[in-house]
Amino acid sequence: MYLCNAMSKYKKHVFVCTNDREAKAACGSVRGMELINEFKELLKDHPDRASIRAQRAGCLDVCALGPALVVYPDAIFYGHVSKEDIKEIVLEHLINNRPVERLMLKF
Ligand code: FES
Repeated sequence: MYLCNAMSKYKKHVFVCTNDREAKAACGSVRGMELINEFKELLKDHPDRASIRAQRAGCLDVCALGPALVVYPDAIFYGHVSKEDIKEIVLEHLINNRPVERLMLKF
């Protein structure tokens, strides 16, 4: 049995769905990239920028609740996220470790 006890490279690692598909609801690459670019813009001058990463991801399996993203290591999913919400996620969750309740998806 393999037990991983290693520290993550990042304090917070954000995966933003950029999945496109025609047949069903999808977050979409345009909206997803808009969110990623906003994360990058807000974090570019922050002292912790090297330990916080936002990147694109495939479908997170919450398509009807998109645009969606997940923050690890907390495994907290957010749904119906807009560009205007990113500042709150960065300041509250990524920097101050207080997840944004109003956007959290609860399973
Ligand atoms: S398309 Fe984004 S969660 Fe499925």
